[in-house]
Amino acid sequence: MRQKIIAGNWKMNLTLEEAIRLAADIKSEASSYRHQVILCPAFPYLLALQNELKGTNIKLAGQNCADRENGAFTGEVSASMLASMSVPYVLIGHSERRIYYHESHEVLKEKMDLSLRYGLLPIFCCGETKDIRIDEKQDAFVEKQLEESLFHLSEDDITKVIIAYEPVWAIGTGLNASPQQAQDMHHFIRQKISARYGVGIAEKIIILYGGSVKPDNARELFSQQDVDGGLVGGASLKADDFKKIIQAV
Ligand code: PGA
Repeated sequence: MRQKIIAGNWKMNLTLEEAIRLAADIKSEASSYRHQVILCPAFPYLLALQNELKGTNIKLAGQNCADRENGAFTGEVSASMLASMSVPYVLIGHSERRIYYHESHEVLKEKMDLSLRYGLLPIFCCGETKDIRIDEKQDAFVEKQLEESLFHLSEDDITKVIIAYEPVWAIGTGLNASPQQAQDMHHFIRQKISARYGVGIAEKIIILYGGSVKPDNARELFSQQDVDGGLVGGASLKADDFKKIIQAV
């Protein structure tokens, strides 16, 4: 049985006060959560939220890390900095990073290596745009994302990676992938991992679905065989919706 994970990606939202209030509200029902809950706030809020969440099993993730180790890279946050703050997880390759900040396969490969070197657990995001889906080229597209940034990893390292399949056309659009579309891609990803690392490893890797997950579609999406939980954007900013999504797993 793979662990189930629900991660809330807050993106560039909330004031510090709002972030603490939201975490406190999510925390209020933490004893009933049967799965791993992860919150991904903006960097400056990590320590305050770590304090707020002390004593619960809710974990934190950075939304990104630098592709360089340390040094003169103004404005960047390194994997080693996150590790030094005891932040356990980090998102790598979210489509908003790929699209707006032009993060290439090579840059993401560096980020994967650095996050693993410093003991972080990376949540690697992949997924196709609308045009690629219309052309029915999504399988080849996602396969390339995996091959270029992940499949150089050792067996030991790949087992620490969580994959989030997030079709770009479903992110923030209210248009989620159908449960069957999600299952088909998750199954495809697992097959590719199996071809590269063997079925034993492929069966262990957690694959999350992201893209317009809401309380009313979460249960069906999460009940698919290869869907091990979700990466939630917009709905994670509303405590009631996010708590319903957690309970839907
Ligand atoms: P969404 O975002 O749930 O608002 O579609 C998902 C994500 O970007 O991780």
